[in-house]
Amino acid sequence: MNTAQFISKETKRIVEKVSFTWQTPSNIALVKYWGKSNPQMPKNASISFTLNNCHTITTIDFVYKHNSAFNSESKTVDFDLFFEGEKKEEFKPKIAEFFKRIQEYCPYIFDYKMIINSENSFPHSSGIASSASGLSAIAMCLMSLEAELNPDLSVENSNKKASFLARLGSGSASRSVEGPLVVWGNHPEIEGSSDLFGVQFPYKVHAVFENYQDAILLVDKGEKQVSSTIGHNLMHEHPYAENRFKQANDNLGKISEILQNGDVKAFVNLVESEALTLHAMMLTSNPYFILMKPNTLEIINKIWEYRNENESNICFTLDAGANVHILYPKNEKEKVNQFIENKLSKYCQNNQYIFDSVGFGAKKM
Ligand code: PMV
Repeated sequence: MNTAQFISKETKRIVEKVSFTWQTPSNIALVKYWGKSNPQMPKNASISFTLNNCHTITTIDFVYKHNSAFNSESKTVDFDLFFEGEKKEEFKPKIAEFFKRIQEYCPYIFDYKMIINSENSFPHSSGIASSASGLSAIAMCLMSLEAELNPDLSVENSNKKASFLARLGSGSASRSVEGPLVVWGNHPEIEGSSDLFGVQFPYKVHAVFENYQDAILLVDKGEKQVSSTIGHNLMHEHPYAENRFKQANDNLGKISEILQNGDVKAFVNLVESEALTLHAMMLTSNPYFILMKPNTLEIINKIWEYRNENESNICFTLDAGANVHILYPKNEKEKVNQFIENKLSKYCQNNQYIFDSVGFGAKKM
């Protein structure tokens, strides 16, 4: 794997003080990534819809440190972290670990004091994973600094490296730079795909999948009882792991066809099967665990009922949590939104849900 391409070019340029703000999206996987090897290499390829409304906005103020040689030797990255206006010491270890993983590719991070200010558009602790949007936002801000230091850097290479860096923080974050559909993981049928970074789905997508809707039903906002890091690791000794990785890669080939030919029925079947298989892997891990809640299942059953009664094409997918994402074509928006408000909101914690749709990736503010 050619990771040397991501080591920033040496430069004599210095920027005394600069600030960048990026808005980066969350994403929802259609074919799921679950299982990895070091360093953050996926065991199978995955594909996601980039979201539009669920995003993180991050500003990083970079201040050049004239005594930075000392810091680079002692290998400390100097940063302060604020989340929604408040200093968050408890979030720092995760970001410090992220900087450690990327320092060989971005050695300039030792030269600057970074003040990071972040906020999410979705409610805090909503069970919506914020690591994908959060880490891709930091990666984009770093790449803006790198572009100042190396003006030859093209936008294409900058996005590719941002996805590469974000991946080292959280695998799914590699899919939170571009949109509307991003593939991460090397796959023979997806041109340009790589285990190192996410790429835009390279083929023409059928009109029915444009502006696809995603309503996120917030079933349980509590802290997850098993983190995704532990979950990924449990795939190492998992009796069904190899078959699962093969199935996911087969499904990626299939969904690539489906996205091009517009077969919504096949999409519904594949996406729901992927979601249930992800959770089946959790149920059959050792130790085993369950992230779905009773209301997750109530909602799934109501979705199936609604689909049968209304000849609808709605379907669900799940992340590593209890929340339900309902996916549907734009032409069903009015009816489905009403169904959610009238029939499903009662299964959500504090009746909370978010109407979202497919989005186009990171935006510089
Ligand atoms: O990016 P991580 O390590 O949090 O893993 C995410 C895994 C899933 O959300 C369950 C699936 C996926 O592909 O996004």
